[in-house]
Amino acid sequence: MKIVMLGAPGAGKGTQAKKIAERYRIPHISTGDIFRANMKEGTELGQQAKAYMDQGQLVPDELTVHMVMDRFSKDDCKNGYVLDGFPRTIPQAEALSEALAQAGDSIDYAIDIEVPDERIVKRMSGRRVCQKCGATYHEVHHPPVREGVCDVCGADLVQRSDDKPETVLSRLEVYHEQTQPLIDYYKEKNVLKRVDGTRDLEDVFQAIVDILDE
Ligand code: AP5
Ligand code: MG
Ligand code: ZN
Repeated sequence: MKIVMLGAPGAGKGTQAKKIAERYRIPHISTGDIFRANMKEGTELGQQAKAYMDQGQLVPDELTVHMVMDRFSKDDCKNGYVLDGFPRTIPQAEALSEALAQAGDSIDYAIDIEVPDERIVKRMSGRRVCQKCGATYHEVHHPPVREGVCDVCGADLVQRSDDKPETVLSRLEVYHEQTQPLIDYYKEKNVLKRVDGTRDLEDVFQAIVDILDE
């Protein structure tokens, strides 16, 4: 099963992709997470990506597509994957379609998690992430058992550097300009599914499972 998660920053792509990956035993591939891991390790890719990410801008397509293709070549991708944060532009979507078409394959579902902009800024200000394992929490909607401490690995929780309100606003602008057109792109390919992302996160997950198990 090959799934693309669509939705604005903070819509819940990562939260839901993680649950999908567990339930259907496919890898969760998040380009944002791969960039952040590279930043932490201080790789050249990480340094290049940081400059864009801190501004709320997209990392150039060449860098991103190359990185994702490299990830696809790993063994665990044979039975599918859930893509979170990729594709994010029409050229990225075309690169993905072409690579899949060469193997006679295509995306099975593009799941758009719909959340209005007004809700996004609020949600982001409450997000906390684990510095060590990347687990994501929310102060109100998904708090850890012990405040400020990761349930999974016990490391400290921090705010993501691009979750400052002014950066969130530029990310939203970039989303509407460059990523939202992918909704029509996947609609034309007859694989688009929409879910209401304003509901409780377990309800959003149930709606996705209903689609995938249909
Ligand atoms: P990326 O890491 O992908 O960030 P994003 O798309 O902006 O999305 P987020 O991770 O912020 O949100 P999410 O939808 O995953 O929400 P989450 O589940 O965490 O990308 C970061 C940057 O990297 C980009 O700006 C760009 O620079 C670069 N980049 C990445 N991919 C790229 C690409 N392909 N091309 C070019 N550049 C790229 O949820 C958010 C919060 O809400 C959490 O606290 C969560 O607990 C909470 N929450 C989730 N669901 C619910 C719910 N139903 N109700 C209440 N709270 C909820
Ligand atoms: Mg995410
Ligand atoms: Zn952790």
